[in-house]
Amino acid sequence: MPFSAEYLQELSERNPIEEVVGEYVPLTKRSGQNLFGLCPFHSEKTPSFSVSPGKGIYHCFGCGKGGSVINFIMEIERLSFPEAVEFLARRAGMPLPEREADPSRPKRERLLALNREAARFFYSQLSTPGGEAAREYMRRRRISQRTATNFGLGFAPESWDALTLAMKAAGYTERELYDAGLVKRGRRGGVYDAFRNRLMFPVIDVRGNVVAFSGRVLGDGEPKYLNSPDTPVFSKSHNLFGLNLAKKSIAGYIILVEGNIDVVSLHQAGFDSAVASLGTSLTAEQARLLSRYAKQVVLCYDADAAGRKASQRAIPILEKLELAVRVVTVPGSKDPDEFIKASGAEAFRALIEDSENGVEYRLQAAASGYDLNSDSGKVGYLKEAAQILSALPDPVAREVYSMRVAEQCSVAEDAVRDAVKQAYRRRAATARRRQERMDTRAEQMAQPRDLGIRYSDPRSAAAEEGVISLLQASPELFRGGAGPKPESFTSPELRHIYESMLSLIERGLDVGAAALGETLSLEETNLYTRIAQRPVSAANARAALADYIKRIGAAPRSAEDVDLNAFAKAKQETKGYGGDSHG
Ligand code: CTP
Ligand code: MN
Repeated sequence: MPFSAEYLQELSERNPIEEVVGEYVPLTKRSGQNLFGLCPFHSEKTPSFSVSPGKGIYHCFGCGKGGSVINFIMEIERLSFPEAVEFLARRAGMPLPEREADPSRPKRERLLALNREAARFFYSQLSTPGGEAAREYMRRRRISQRTATNFGLGFAPESWDALTLAMKAAGYTERELYDAGLVKRGRRGGVYDAFRNRLMFPVIDVRGNVVAFSGRVLGDGEPKYLNSPDTPVFSKSHNLFGLNLAKKSIAGYIILVEGNIDVVSLHQAGFDSAVASLGTSLTAEQARLLSRYAKQVVLCYDADAAGRKASQRAIPILEKLELAVRVVTVPGSKDPDEFIKASGAEAFRALIEDSENGVEYRLQAAASGYDLNSDSGKVGYLKEAAQILSALPDPVAREVYSMRVAEQCSVAEDAVRDAVKQAYRRRAATARRRQERMDTRAEQMAQPRDLGIRYSDPRSAAAEEGVISLLQASPELFRGGAGPKPESFTSPELRHIYESMLSLIERGLDVGAAALGETLSLEETNLYTRIAQRPVSAANARAALADYIKRIGAAPRSAEDVDLNAFAKAKQETKGYGGDSHG
């Protein structure tokens, strides 16, 4: 259900952008009105991320991201628009606008609250005398106190009813404990704690809700992991352990591992994008969830046969969603945790970087399509291999892998080398031509190419941008239809931005990135923000507008173009709104 512009405006007023952003990014005041900091969306050493409290927007001069406080929360918490609205409403203590009545909502909220309470209980158990076994296990696995807190790890005591009693005391019923999967029913109808004497990993979804638990035995024993069953708030196939943290990573890839301990250990070593599926083999839903946060996945399953098999099963699922898959196998260790402990974080980073081009993996995949004992198979494979190797920028790597391919199909090294050289020359020539074409084009026009937008008429588009920044800075100039007609815009994106702004103004509302955010696409929001943050001189605004209109080749809007009915109606709604929502 769409939110009203009025609601969104109030939401952004009650969540001042400098305050909200300031909770994630240290900001310092610099020249004029703007605050600056290091951009949280790409890595940089000098601040190019600016926040304009007056305009209610942020903008990064480095990576081009920008928008309202809602866009910021969408981007940094990786939420959808309605989720971000909800997030900010909670933050400011505002009621949510009426939503379709969801009869299961109160019950779900109860179970989530119960899970959170249970997580607190497990966490507190870690520091009791009874928790010594868990502390000892964590020491043995070299999990630091800081990491434990970061993940909210806990301990389920060796007891049949410790959790049950604590949760009952906190006001929850046996029925609720059962529905949350925290207890099981005994034969005589009573209940008993499901997790006993285990290291507890809360499973936290991307909105920050504790939705389930995994409990690992302290040491050896079966089952190694006990996971919550599916409940009204949890579906195993739709969640990944660690994604609540990994979603904030700027690594650009997600590392998918098998065990929760591997996740924890990788995060501790600085790989903050590690996640694990919860004892299932990777599902399509989990892959879709991942694809919201990264376009690349590094598969790093255990080195045993089971891990290799799981890896082979996961690859097509990920590739179907157009995720780039790389496979890392840890040499000489059973899993990434063991490898990092034996060889260090830098060695693991090198493994990931080596896997970047995926040569080994792709050569292997290519080879599996041919019978290398036959001549025709060898020829087919060599052609494909030459293509793959010619894409390697490093000449040493091209040489080394050429030798390996030669060995693999027992042909002369020179033959492979020549084939690669030829493919490399062809590729370089194509790239050069493409670069030349792009250079000439770039000279002709300033395209917002980084936003995936291409102006068909750059000259007119520049004027259209000018109109938008004038409308932002001096809306009064446009009163009575003084601006150009939207239909005369040549860029559909700019036209859409312009129309959305006009419609807010005609309804008596302020033009703000927050209110626009709902109608504009992400690209359009970025484009709008980029335009809105440009300084505009008020001195010759009127003359500038006339000039823009001329350049666009548009007739000015006339008074009839302004939808007066909409204007009147909007005003009425605004009146009705003010009373009840402020409470
Ligand atoms: N597993 C599970 N439930 C989880 C996580 C993992 O059932 N929440 C299962 C996986 O399906 C896999 C195995 O446990 O079969 C992974 O184990 P492993 O990688 O060995 O787990 P770790 O926690 O890393 O334990 P170890 O210390 O033995 O490496
Ligand atoms: Mn492991």
